[in-house]
Amino acid sequence: MLNFELKNPTKIIFGKDQIKNLEKELPKDAKVLLLYGGGSIKQNGIYEQVKKALHGHEVVEFGGIPANPEYAVLLEALQVIKNESITFLLAVGGGSVIDGTKFLSAAALFKGDTPWDILTNGIPTTVGLPFGTVLTLPATASEMNSGAVITRAEIQEKRAMGGPGLFPVFSILDPQVVASIPQRQLANGVTDAFTHVLEQYMTYPAGGYLQDRFAESIMQTLIEIAPRIMKNPADYEAAANFMWSCTLALNGLIQKGVPGDWAVHMMGHELTALFGIDHARTLAIVAPSHYRFNFESKKEKLAQYGKRVWGLTEGTDEDIAKEAIVKTEEFFHSLDIKTALSEYTSDYKGTAEKISARFIERGWNGLGEHKSLTPAHVQEIVEMSY
Ligand code: NZQ
Ligand code: ZN
Repeated sequence: MLNFELKNPTKIIFGKDQIKNLEKELPKDAKVLLLYGGGSIKQNGIYEQVKKALHGHEVVEFGGIPANPEYAVLLEALQVIKNESITFLLAVGGGSVIDGTKFLSAAALFKGDTPWDILTNGIPTTVGLPFGTVLTLPATASEMNSGAVITRAEIQEKRAMGGPGLFPVFSILDPQVVASIPQRQLANGVTDAFTHVLEQYMTYPAGGYLQDRFAESIMQTLIEIAPRIMKNPADYEAAANFMWSCTLALNGLIQKGVPGDWAVHMMGHELTALFGIDHARTLAIVAPSHYRFNFESKKEKLAQYGKRVWGLTEGTDEDIAKEAIVKTEEFFHSLDIKTALSEYTSDYKGTAEKISARFIERGWNGLGEHKSLTPAHVQEIVEMSY
């Protein structure tokens, strides 16, 4: 097992009807900016619950943060923070609203002239304006981690940022919010969380027995609840397990003491930046090709995953490892998620070269758990994903 440090300061308030406890978590004298997305919270009753709980606080609102939170929109929110002397941010939404809020938390205290530098200079954010979240969509675990991904449409870029200053102070997780989530976003949530586990698990055996079993149990739980949640998102027990699995998939715990890959996400982010494909779907496009391309270095873990998560027993370890990739694809298909780029766009030719060139430009010369995946390899993997 590798050495590690673990500190996660986010307070989780989990369960039925917990949004009302929001009031207790906010500093008494806080001037709050309530941030939300395209308006789903106004249709499913979450907005009313939040407003009720905020009664007694000074609140300014900023709505309209789009999926794949857009830099230009966030700059407008930044202006509100400054003009209104906001002291606390409250994100009510999914990964996009929460990530946008993390960017604002960092940007509000940023000393430089161009906040985009936060996303390109690679310096971790150690301090931000405090913020809390009310999660409306299980998927990213942004509610309990310190990372964010921001999109800038004018230059077709989607870049990551983060650091120890960007953990939410608290996050309220009421599984009842799942009831109003459309099928497409439910499928995205399961797929994103499942791939988060794969990114931290599908490397090489590193003696992290417990971490491996945490990871396997999250995947098994997601496989178990996926059909239930797709059939009936109001199934509270399934929704609760879905929500907590998504949070644990990327709150830092399973990553500790083991190597991580993350190349699937790096390639996937480019597909969202270039074509606007939903984040989770880009992962389903890239992951199977990534595992086939890197089969030799990942086959031991692929076989372990095949046996323990999918219960495969037939054939050699190599057969099981190969079949495990097929099982993964079939799982995505069972959620109505397509796994080839050409099924999302007819304009895919040249994408592999473009992504590879972008990685060269950024100096991303060695991705993956061995830091050995070159831009030329990336080109081959993306081509295999057409
Ligand atoms: O905009 P609103 O009205 O909120 O509607 C959203 C949006 O249209 C809707 N929705 C959310 N909760 C709902 C609901 N509709 C009905 N009922 C509810 N209860 O769902 C749509 C998608 O929301 P979004 O927040 O974009 O989805 P998700 O949570 O999947 O977030 C995706 C973003 O997170 C980033 C992705 O790159 C992408 O930009 N990620 C963040 C990570 C992190 N911070 O750790 C890691 C991930 O790998 C990922 O990269
Ligand atoms: Zn993801």
